[in-house]
Amino acid sequence: MKHNYSYQGERILLRPLAEEDIEPFRLLRNRPENRRWFFFADEITEERQSAWYQQYAAKGNDYMFAAALPAEPTCFVGAIAVYNFRQEDNSFEVGRLLLDSGNPACRGLGKELVRGIRWIVENYFPKSVCTSLRAEIYDNNERSIRCFQSNGFQVYGERIEKDRRIVLMRCAVKNNETE
Ligand SMILES: CC(C)(COP(=O)(O)OP(=O)(O)OC[C@H]1O[C@@H](n2cnc3c(N)ncnc32)[C@H](O)[C@@H]1OP(=O)(O)O)[C@@H](O)C(=O)NCCC(=O)NCCS
Repeated sequence: MKHNYSYQGERILLRPLAEEDIEPFRLLRNRPENRRWFFFADEITEERQSAWYQQYAAKGNDYMFAAALPAEPTCFVGAIAVYNFRQEDNSFEVGRLLLDSGNPACRGLGKELVRGIRWIVENYFPKSVCTSLRAEIYDNNERSIRCFQSNGFQVYGERIEKDRRIVLMRCAVKNNETE
C-alpha cells in the first residue's frame, strides 16, 4: 500500500517503495543467489512485477520499503516489508528482506534493515494494531536468521514446506506511539 513511513539509520535509509524502484528490486531479487531464499523462488518478469506493484499499491496492511544509502537517498540497494497482519495475536510478518551484497557499502546492513522496520512499527503503528512481529526463514539461511536474532527475534517453532525446514521467529514490540 502507499504509505509515508521512513527510517533514517546511521548507514541506511528506509523509504516507501516507489514505482521507480520496482525494476532494480526485480533485478536484485531475480539473482539466483537471492531468490533461492524466498518461498516463491521463480524468476519474475517485468510484466509480473508491474502487476504485483499495482496490486501491492491497492492493498491494505502491506508496507514495502526501499533501502538506500543515506548519501544517495534515491538509490535502491535493498528492500524489506511488514505485511500479512494476523488478527488473533495482533502481529505482522516481516520479510522480503534483500540487500545488494555485491555493493561493498551494503555488507552487514541486514541487521540495520530489521532494526529500521522494528523502529517504524514501534513509532508509527498504534499498540492496538500491533503487539508483535513474526518472521519465517529457511533454517539454513543463517545470515537472515542472525539479522532477526540480533534485533530481539526468537525462534518459537518450525514447519516443513516442500521438504525444507522453516524456522518461525517472533518478537514483542514496544510501541512508543500513543494508543
Ligand atoms: C539476509 C541479508 C539481507 C543479510 O545481509 P548482510 O547483513 O549483509 O549479511 P551478513 O553477511 O553481514 O550476515 C549477517 C549476520 O549473519 C552472520 N553470518 C553470516 N554467515 C553466517 C553463517 N554461515 N552462519 C552463522 N552466521 C552467519 C554474520 O556474521 C552477521 O552477523 P554479525 O554481524 O553478528 O557478525 C542478505 O544476505 C541477503 O540479501 N540475502 C538474500 C535474500 C535473503 O536471504 N532474504 C531473507 C529471506 S527470509
